[in-house]
Parts: sequence; structure tokens; C-alpha cells
Amino acid sequence: MRSYLPILTLPLLQLPGATARVFTVVNTCSYTIWPAIYTDLTVAQNVPQFPTGWESPPSTSTQFTVPDNWKSGRIWGRRNCNFTTNNGPTSCLDGGCNGGLQCDPHSGTGTPPATLAEWTLQSNGSFDFYDVSVVDGFNIPMSIIPSATNCSTASCPNDLNAGCPSQLVGPTNSSGNTVGCKSACEANLDNNPTNSANCCTGSHNTNATCPASGVQYYSYFKTSCPNSYVYAYDESSGTALWTCNSALNSDYRLTFCPPPYGGQAPAPISAVPASLIPTSTGTSSGSRTQSASSSASSSPGFKSSALAPLRFPMAPGALSVLGVVVGWLMVMV
Ligand SMILES: *[C@@H]1O[C@H](CO)[C@@H](O)[C@H](O)[C@H]1NC(C)=O
Ligand SMILES: *[C@@H]1O[C@H](CO)[C@@H](O)[C@H](O)[C@H]1NC(C)=O
Ligand SMILES: *[C@@H]1O[C@H](CO)[C@@H](O)[C@H](O)[C@H]1NC(C)=O
Ligand SMILES: *[C@@H]1O[C@H](CO)[C@@H](O)[C@H](O)[C@H]1NC(C)=O
Ligand SMILES: *[C@@H]1O[C@H](CO)[C@@H](O)[C@H](O)[C@H]1NC(C)=O
Repeated sequence: MRSYLPILTLPLLQLPGATARVFTVVNTCSYTIWPAIYTDLTVAQNVPQFPTGWESPPSTSTQFTVPDNWKSGRIWGRRNCNFTTNNGPTSCLDGGCNGGLQCDPHSGTGTPPATLAEWTLQSNGSFDFYDVSVVDGFNIPMSIIPSATNCSTASCPNDLNAGCPSQLVGPTNSSGNTVGCKSACEANLDNNPTNSANCCTGSHNTNATCPASGVQYYSYFKTSCPNSYVYAYDESSGTALWTCNSALNSDYRLTFCPPPYGGQAPAPISAVPASLIPTSTGTSSGSRTQSASSSASSSPGFKSSALAPLRFPMAPGALSVLGVVVGWLMVMV
């Protein structure tokens, strides 16, 4: 019995003429996270039917619909947030965005290190592209499981904070535990961000001149998370970027802190505890469906002038790679 059964029984899918995909975001971590959504509006204007940020306590799940042509979108988790007096990128220990609880639709990309789930649905007209990226570092394990049976799990299911190389550690929480593990690029290990083998910039800005072997600590990330996108040109690994035939109209389940596993095999789809199965009557910590207009219009407290610029915009690597791939495919078409 597949865990998608509960989703398929939801009235949501029975709406006549619905073309949207159902996204389910599950927090099985032992701690509260504040998931966030960002859509690169310069690529396409289609946005999920949901606010760009919310609070997700342990063992809760949230469900919303996403246009079946959502492009260049990402969801990530923020840790240790407090928006009481701070609506900026430092409102969370990691992953914080401009805007506060709800990330600004234009500039709310978030602060690394953060594990990213990325989608471009109907990328070249006929395939959904998706990946779990640690290009901008790692903060929370996650997996993306498509409902379409033939489509693969993308994941970084293991906790990379625990063994994080000392050069990459940070931030740490007030107990001194590591809650983020930077990429070598983000940690600026080669001390030359504009011409870096870790960042694939400058003379290293092509597939050929930026091999995985030149990226420091590549194997630390790729060994523990073989099905994740580890650096800007990781696509050649064959296990970084995943595709799913758009005609299957796959729904997607994003799980924070999924069951860990070590090898190449997809994580077993474990039974979802009843407490995690969204119901149509869920409230703040359960399933919610809100209109796009409510999400797009509200960004409490956002003041762009008051914010320090982010040194690294979130995921320049992974998203631009996705963009390049999509652009390239479009040229090919
Ligand atoms: C959040 O920040 C406010 C203002 O700094 C502080 O008073 C409050 O205790 C904080 N809440 C938590 C849960 O840390
Ligand atoms: C779209 O991408 C998929 C996956 O890479 C590929 O198999 C397919 O041929 C592409 N379709 C077109 C029209 O380019
Ligand atoms: C899944 O893959 C199998 C084997 O390639 C194929 O026979 C089947 O039609 C596919 N199912 C879907 C839903 O695409
Ligand atoms: C710090 O992180 C560790 C590991 O996630 C957690 O067990 C601990 O409760 C956290 N401490 C605080 C003060 O949040
Ligand atoms: C990138 O380089 C790798 C290794 O040299 C190669 O296997 C792969 O085909 C290349 N990909 C592209 C898109 O050129």
C-alpha cells in the first residue's frame, strides 16, 4: 500500500477541471521548521496557491496546490526562527528570508546554508525537472517523492550536520550543536569567489573546467546524499537532476527529515502516521489551502531598504543550472 493513497482520497483532487498538482510538505523532524517557498518570477509568473512561508511543528503536514507549469520554484526549511522583531534574513538561524514568516515574492530567496527542493514543472513542455540541492549547503535532510510510480526519489536524507567538516560547520545553535553545513563555495574555502573551482566561477565556469574532483568536500556530500545536487555541474553524476513525464501529472511529497538510508535505492515509502495525514479540517498545523492572492499580497514588515544585501543569493548554482538546462532544452526544441 503506497502512502499516496491518503492524498488520492482528498476532495482536492476531485475538483472538476483541476490541472494543478498537489504538493504535500511533511515535517518529521523532531524540531519545528518554518518552510518557505520562492518562485523566480523572471522565469515565469505561475506561483503556488499558498503563502510563501509558514510554521510547521514536528509531525505536521501541509498541503497546497501548485500550477502544473510552476517553473524555477523552490521550497526549503528555516530553523530556529523568531519573527517578533526581525523580518529579515537573520530572523532564522539558517534559511531566513527577506519578509519574515512569509518570504518576499521578489527578494525572499533565503540565507544559506539551506537544503533546497527545486522544481521546474513542464520544463521543456513534456518533463518535470526536480532535485534536492545542497549547492548552497545543507541544513535539514529532505526527500522529494513523486506520486507517479515511475519517477525517482530525489533526496538528501542523511544528516550532514553531524559529520560536517570543521571548515564548513555553521551556524550552531545556542547549545553549540551544528544546524548547518556550508558548501565549500559558501565557506569561501578557495578565497576567490569570482574565480573559484568550488563555485564554478571565472575560469571554472563550464562543465569541462569545473569537475566534481575540483570541488572541496564534494564526496562528503555526495556519498551521504547520492541523489542530491551537490555542486553547479553535478548533473553529469546522473543522480542530481530528476525528470518525470509531465503527462503523468505527478503530485509531489516533500518530507523534512525522511527515513535515512545509505545507498542508491530509493527510500522506502514508509507508512505515514495518521497524525501526519492532512485533513480538510486542519488548521494552523494541519493542511491548509489558501488562495494565491492572499499569499502574493502579504509580506508583513518587508522593507527592502532596511535589509543588508545577502552576500550569496540562495542557490545561484542549482537554480541557474536548472535555468541553463531548461534554456538549453528550449533552444534544442
Ligand atoms: C523572540 O524574540 C523576542 C524579541 O527579541 C523575545 O522577546 C522572545 O523571547 C523570542 N522568543 C523566543 C521563543 O525565543
Ligand atoms: C524533455 O526532457 C526530457 C528529459 O531530459 C527528454 O527526455 C525529452 O526528450 C525532452 N523533450 C523535448 C521536446 O526536448
Ligand atoms: C512505468 O515503466 C514501465 C516499464 O518501463 C512501463 O511499462 C509503464 O507503462 C510505466 N508506467 C507509467 C505510468 O508510465
Ligand atoms: C540545538 O540543536 C540540537 C540538535 O538539533 C538540539 O537537540 C537542541 O535542542 C538544540 N538546542 C536549542 C537550544 O535549540
Ligand atoms: C559534463 O561533463 C561530464 C564529465 O566530463 C560529462 O560526462 C557530461 O556529459 C557533461 N555534460 C554536458 C551537458 O556537457
